[in-house]
Amino acid sequence: MSQFQEKATVVRVERFSDENFRLTLDCPLIAESAKPGQFVMIRTSVGKDPLLRRPFSIHQTSRGGKIQIYFKVVGRGTHILAHVKEGEELSVFGPLGKGFRLNPHVPAILVGGGLGIAPMLFLAKENSRLKKSSSEDLILLGAREKSELAPLLDDFRQFNRKLLTATDDGSLGHHGFVTEVLQSIELPPGCIVYACGPEPMMAGVNKICRDQGIPCQVSVESVMACGMGACLGCSRPAKSGTYTHVCLHGPVYDAEELIWNI
Ligand SMILES: Cc1cc2nc3c(=O)[nH]c(=O)nc-3n(C[C@H](O)[C@H](O)[C@H](O)COP(=O)(O)OP(=O)(O)OC[C@H]3O[C@@H](n4cnc5c(N)ncnc54)[C@H](O)[C@@H]3O)c2cc1C
Ligand code: FES
Repeated sequence: MSQFQEKATVVRVERFSDENFRLTLDCPLIAESAKPGQFVMIRTSVGKDPLLRRPFSIHQTSRGGKIQIYFKVVGRGTHILAHVKEGEELSVFGPLGKGFRLNPHVPAILVGGGLGIAPMLFLAKENSRLKKSSSEDLILLGAREKSELAPLLDDFRQFNRKLLTATDDGSLGHHGFVTEVLQSIELPPGCIVYACGPEPMMAGVNKICRDQGIPCQVSVESVMACGMGACLGCSRPAKSGTYTHVCLHGPVYDAEELIWNI
């Protein structure tokens, strides 16, 4: 699989809250070859601080060679990204990692929590491209509060899939966790669940799927330095008894391959 390093012009900056931002970047080579679940490494600094690129899921791609990332400010790198201006250039490397394996012949259940919503838009788009309509597909999105979900809802609604939401504070949809919604519904026979979100959420999704014998793919995070298998900083124990490197073997795994400590 090819990877590219591109000088990407920032064509749009969307600020959804003080912490949540979406950038649209012009990087045609990466956009052309990216698959849902893959990520890019972005140099967030002009000088040397922070030295290392930061990983971000590809939120969606669009015709004309654009990709989007959706992110939250948590530290220095994301703080710098939140202040880039339209017209500036960023060094973007990707697409990296292994993405989701979509099966267009069975119902798809997409579960995104918090920033785990980021790769779900690309996945929902690809799913609807492969499978024009499906009354059995389902998109479940969870967040702490309405303001984190509301700006993204129209993007998800365009696929004409059933969409359910959950918020920790009850300001939108189910009052509670998105895993409670997943647990409460009767999942269609033969479906596959695709999930991304905080570790406890994905552990919960894995348990629900395991109990019902439903296959589940998860996209996991790990602290990353190189993003391409050179530093071994992203290792994570796997059920096989060895370590897996999230940047190379993931970030998407069959949930059953991983050890869930929660
Ligand atoms: C494959 C992959 C995809 C990702 N996709 C997204 C995305 O779509 N949107 C998004 O907002 N973030 C995403 N992340 C997380 C993002 O990379 C980190 O938030 C970012 O690197 C933080 O950089 P910083 O310099 O702002 O913070 P730092 O100063 O590096 O760290 C600030 C705090 O965040 C913690 N942190 C840093 N990286 C991670 C991580 N990977 N997981 C958990 N905690 C971390 C640190 O321990 C520290 O407490 C992804 C991570 C990976 C590995
Ligand atoms: S981040 Fe360096 S090996 Fe995975």
